[in-house]
Amino acid sequence: MEASGAGLWLAPEEFAAVSEKYALAGEPGAGDRLGRGSYGAVASAVERATGARVALKWLVITDADGAAAALRELVCLQGLRDANSNSNSNSNSGVVQLRDAFCARVWKAREGAGAGHDALVLVTAAAFDDLSGTLARAHRVGAAVPAVGYARQLLRALAFLHAAGVAHLDVKPHNVLVFERGCLELCDFGLADVGVSDWRMVQTVWWRAPEYVLGGRRPHSRIIGPRALAAAADVWSAGCVVYELLAAAAGAAERVLFPQSGGPAALFRARLEAVGPPPGATAAQLPQIYARLEARIEDERSDSGAATAAPESEDADFAAIRQLWLEPAPTLPARAAALVAAAPAGDRPALAALAALLPRLLAFDPADRIRAAAALIAPPFREAPADLTALDAAGQAAGARFAGAHSQFAALQQNKGEPLDVILRQIKKLIT
Ligand SMILES: Nc1ncnc2c1ncn2[C@@H]1O[C@H](COP(=O)(O)OP(=O)(O)OP(=O)(O)O)[C@@H](O)[C@H]1O
Ligand SMILES: [Mg+2]
Repeated sequence: MEASGAGLWLAPEEFAAVSEKYALAGEPGAGDRLGRGSYGAVASAVERATGARVALKWLVITDADGAAAALRELVCLQGLRDANSNSNSNSNSGVVQLRDAFCARVWKAREGAGAGHDALVLVTAAAFDDLSGTLARAHRVGAAVPAVGYARQLLRALAFLHAAGVAHLDVKPHNVLVFERGCLELCDFGLADVGVSDWRMVQTVWWRAPEYVLGGRRPHSRIIGPRALAAAADVWSAGCVVYELLAAAAGAAERVLFPQSGGPAALFRARLEAVGPPPGATAAQLPQIYARLEARIEDERSDSGAATAAPESEDADFAAIRQLWLEPAPTLPARAAALVAAAPAGDRPALAALAALLPRLLAFDPADRIRAAAALIAPPFREAPADLTALDAAGQAAGARFAGAHSQFAALQQNKGEPLDVILRQIKKLIT
């Protein structure tokens, strides 16, 4: 993570070269900064050819992990380009559109002189805000939040992605861009997957699906492939976001579904405590399960992401926890109903229908979790079947264009520890 305030600098001739195409407000990350992420900065600029305000995401590549994340994002955004929308309007798919990508050599201000680093720069239309900012402002000033419309757009973006065979794996309000007129687009594909990974640490912890907390293993008795498992993890995160939308629409003091503090094991415990265990469950089992869970998470940390526990014990944990956390989660409907009751009277019927979806989006077992496309058929959305068929077809068409990406992702997966320059060469090949 870039230290706060740490700027990125371009060599003068490179600054001049980038400036031919984009009017920059300053050095990357120092000028008009829109955001700062794990691997660099997002700065606004004006695209000279069109006068459009764009966002330049500078992904500074200093190690193989960063290079892999950059490659993931590039491959996804290139593959998910919307065939039917021009680059000046919002996409039909609800996925942010890549306008341009190039490489540049950058220096981190605090490193001083030296060889510098390669950076991949991804250019997209500049959004007005992201959803986390929008929700925070709604709570602060009491602005209305179109919760149903936002939830629909998020689920449509996921239905499109999943039809394309891609899982985002980091769905959270910070990664949803809000454009003027209330259009949402999903951004940040640094963790996305085309379903080739068995398991790796994904999703920001507060929005992480329980099966990923438990090691990304399929539940013991159900057949669910890696792709469906990854898509279901997106749906869990979307459920958490839908709760946040409801809370903002209600102006509730409680803004999120799960407390946003503590590590993965603490969060998992908080989840169980918030929604269970139901009366009659053997509370005596809980401490053992927590202890095993914490030990596993520790193992994973020290083993750089490789799950080490034997599959049989994972299945036993999953079964035990599932038993404690019966579906639908016992307190979730009541909490959601309280939010609906606090919302303006005119909004309540639609919000109640949205709240009724929550236990299905947040089903504990990924095999039981509703798919994004199926959720769109339910009230309050009731998307027309023809629209959903068109969305599915668009997703599948993007998926077909993506066919090559599968081998690329598989290679990334196998090449754990692949030298930086090999991944960089792949990146440079894709943008020429
Ligand atoms: N096109 C855009 N318009 C406006 N703001 C943007 C745009 N793209 C990104 N941002 C802002 O920059 C932030 C970081 O971007 P992004 O999530 O793509 O980067 P990241 O490095 O992957 O971040 P993180 O590591 O925090 O997930 C976003 O949360 C958003 O606030
Ligand atoms: Mg992000």
